[in-house]
Amino acid sequence: MLALALLGRVLTLLRRRGMAPVADMTERRIYYFDNNATTRVAPEVVDAMIPFLRDQWGNPSSAYRFGSQVAKRVDEAREKVAALIGAEPREIVFTSCGTESNNAAVQSALATQPCKRHILTTAVEHSAIIKHCEALRKQGCEVTFLPVDADGMLDLHLLDQSIRTDTAIVSVMWANNETGVVFPIEEIAAICRSRNVLFHTDATQAPGKLKLDAGGVGADFLTLSAHKLHAPKGIGLLYVRRRTPFQPYLMGGHQERGKRGGTENVAGIVAFGRAAELALARLEEENTTVRALRDRLEDTILGAVPNTVRNGAKEPRLPNTSNIAFDFVEAEGILMKLDELGICVSSGSACTTGSLNPSHVLTAMGISAARAKGCVRFSLGFYNTAEEVDYLLTHVPRVIARLRESSPEKPARHAKHAPGPAPALPAHSLQK
Ligand SMILES: Cc1ncc(COP(=O)(O)O)c(C=O)c1O
Repeated sequence: MLALALLGRVLTLLRRRGMAPVADMTERRIYYFDNNATTRVAPEVVDAMIPFLRDQWGNPSSAYRFGSQVAKRVDEAREKVAALIGAEPREIVFTSCGTESNNAAVQSALATQPCKRHILTTAVEHSAIIKHCEALRKQGCEVTFLPVDADGMLDLHLLDQSIRTDTAIVSVMWANNETGVVFPIEEIAAICRSRNVLFHTDATQAPGKLKLDAGGVGADFLTLSAHKLHAPKGIGLLYVRRRTPFQPYLMGGHQERGKRGGTENVAGIVAFGRAAELALARLEEENTTVRALRDRLEDTILGAVPNTVRNGAKEPRLPNTSNIAFDFVEAEGILMKLDELGICVSSGSACTTGSLNPSHVLTAMGISAARAKGCVRFSLGFYNTAEEVDYLLTHVPRVIARLRESSPEKPARHAKHAPGPAPALPAHSLQK
């Protein structure tokens, strides 16, 4: 009994250092493959933020030193996140999350250009853009959701053609959270610049996986969210290019050079800064070790499980993401069975889990509703090990085979690997 308690304590200590396997609240071992939903907070990040929760809790806006010392740490964190995205520190506005940053960019473009009421975006954005645009449409704005092809790629000629004289902003994500497909942001920014229209990119899934250079690319606005890069939830940023007109979304105090009211989430900001340093240092590893684990996972599943196909282009793609369609089974069943085995994966964006509708991203790629319902996203991260991938690869083929046995639409035995024809573009995704 004592030995067990001791072992539990040692495991907890190791886990705190990021050296022991992940466990849930019941001490059940977890195999976490859902890093696009959120990530484990790095132990180095926890260490960096704790003093600002425990001892250094002063308000950075206060005039006395107990506050200004804290403000100095906020500025240091600002420099670190700026370095991660190729920005100047003064171009960083800390927010509460990626959703707020996305909303703030679009709202600002509308507020600073009252004569422009058209928004150009894509059919595969995160709901933090899509839902916001749908709400703005009800308030009188016009929104164009650009379609994608079967690979999840945009037609840049169509994007160029869709810019209007009253387009207030073009918003295109850097990398898709469900498929990992990467958009040519530099080219899109160049088109927007040549047409003299503001450009926002939701880069929430990109840092630490892709080299980001907001300044070099020429974006006006860029969104990040700290919990996707091994920092805690509840902290994000909006890059606002110098000289880009900006109207605050949250109005109040003079924090963030008057660009966002509200007392700063100091511990979160310091954590974000430390996580940004780590993400820069680990960029190479994400693109070698993590990519190799992802490729082994994907190639093995596609080879070993019949009637499977990868969703989205093989390249350019985030090195950690693989979205796979398992025909004749529903993702809900797969997720439940894998959960029983301690494996965490998702059927799409964490923000739409629970919705009965097939993913809007997969539907926009022309994937049939039947196939889209059987798609699973595997998203790896820095802390995944080869042993965890082995565990997943042992169980996924068995789970699929068992579910298919009980499926009313089970495939013919020994069915060939059948990806099916590439479907046509959805008519609904243009000019919504
Ligand atoms: C591409 C993308 N944008 C925005 C968000 C929203 O970020 P947050 O959860 O910080 O609001 C997410 C989160 O999943 C995302 O993947």
